[in-house]
Amino acid sequence: MLPEWAVVTAKRRAHIERVAATIREWGAAMGIAPAELQRWERAAWWHDALRDAELATEMDHGPLAAARLEQEGERDRGVLDAVRYHSIGYAGWDDVGKMLYLADYLEPGRVHDAAERATLRGRVPRERDAVLREVARRRVERTVHAGWPLAAETVAFWNALASR
Ligand SMILES: [Fe+2]
Repeated sequence: MLPEWAVVTAKRRAHIERVAATIREWGAAMGIAPAELQRWERAAWWHDALRDAELATEMDHGPLAAARLEQEGERDRGVLDAVRYHSIGYAGWDDVGKMLYLADYLEPGRVHDAAERATLRGRVPRERDAVLREVARRRVERTVHAGWPLAAETVAFWNALASR
């Protein structure tokens, strides 16, 4: 569920719902225990909770939401790090961060490269780490191609995936 303090447009809410649904489907297909799946779903519902807040940007809406969640009493480091770094990647992630990063990029509402995304989405339950590397590669390539800088966290995340 979205927190009471969420600031999201209807379009954003629909994205968040699709991310949560994608994570639930993967969790079921992977036979994930309810308590663990509940962590994944919490991160899905909260990751963009402040994306449409007045002063939030693409780069800081994750850290803002994580800080707010911590204030509200969230103590799960994996959930907080998933939300905090979901836009850029993080080498220290546990499964929560990895699954959110995948679902955010592969949820079925994204129309660009929809067929390729659908193929990758279907592979996640059996080949999670291979798909994670592929999604990170695409996102890094897009950033570099656009001439944008890579965050230090993104470089460390990519290096951790690439050196496996
Ligand atoms: Fe986001």
